[in-house]
Amino acid sequence: MSDNEIRAIEWRDEPVPHIRLLDQRALPAHETYLQITTVDDLVEAIGTLAVRGAPALGAAGALGVVIALDQAAREGWTDAQITMHIERIRDARPTAVNLAWGVDRVRPLTARGRDAVLADARRLVTEDEAANRELSRLGADWLGHRIGRDRLRIGTHCNTGALATTAWGTAYGIIHELHTRGALELVYADETRPLLQGARLTSWELIHDGIPHVVQADGAAASTILRGLVDAVIIGADRIAADGDTANKVGSVALALACARAGVPFVVAAPSSTVDLATATGSDITIEDRSGEEVLLVAGQRVAPDGARGFNPAFDVTPHDLIDAIVTEHGVVEPAREPDPRLLERIAATPERL
Ligand code: MRU
Repeated sequence: MSDNEIRAIEWRDEPVPHIRLLDQRALPAHETYLQITTVDDLVEAIGTLAVRGAPALGAAGALGVVIALDQAAREGWTDAQITMHIERIRDARPTAVNLAWGVDRVRPLTARGRDAVLADARRLVTEDEAANRELSRLGADWLGHRIGRDRLRIGTHCNTGALATTAWGTAYGIIHELHTRGALELVYADETRPLLQGARLTSWELIHDGIPHVVQADGAAASTILRGLVDAVIIGADRIAADGDTANKVGSVALALACARAGVPFVVAAPSSTVDLATATGSDITIEDRSGEEVLLVAGQRVAPDGARGFNPAFDVTPHDLIDAIVTEHGVVEPAREPDPRLLERIAATPERL
């Protein structure tokens, strides 16, 4: 890793074993780090989005099991208490399947001891970065074949870069790859109300990487697509069902509808850990309902009148027939062209691929 690479989540052994989180609540104004040593602090960090983004949550889940085991050793927890606290981490947010996946992957290793759990959690982190880099190459290749233009104008929503992953990014990784290939003209980054992951985080990353972009209001995105200003939209995912229906940050489905109308490719990019073959369709995905207060505030200031109530689903589901391509590190499938209730089996994580 080069010195200026962003690392949102890392394991550190010194001064005490901990998860080091770049506190995303404070960005872009302050670059501060949290030293997580307890389950309470980790659950709080996940719930308040100090750490966020599906792949980063996968790492938080896996490393969180080590935090629970270390705290158990310090405080003399019973097996039942350990189980309860690991479940608290697993359930800290419901939509991104990666969180539960990360916990479930390392949990069986607790029988072999804390160091075995840590070793596998660290492997998961390394694998996530490799998956992101590979899916970025595949996604950039797919777009290059599909779109007859040398330099692409890309729309994106929420934040899918290094901050949302262990490194490099997913949808953002494809954008970065296009930029590296000299095949990117401009990024339209949606601001992403109410927590402004696009305006605060994606723009921060794009500036860090020297990638030309504009930030637009979420409400502008459909019109930008219909006006012909965008060659493709690329988003990340929190959970992809077996048929390709995809949960991602609220607002994503509006972009997909506009893309379908305009004939603009709509692409979902995610590591295979985000594919949930146990969930048949999008209607089976639990959508996180966050506090309505988040919608009534702008930068901590209440803007709605007293008495107003907020409605704050954090994610939405884009039906697979609106998705031109889903890219994981294992390949690309085209759900709109080839509907199949088990389509994602082709690019999911399977025992043979591990
Ligand atoms: O609520 P957040 O900020 O965790 O939501 C994140 C997203 O919706 C991302 O698009 C998704 O997790 C993919 S991150 C590579």
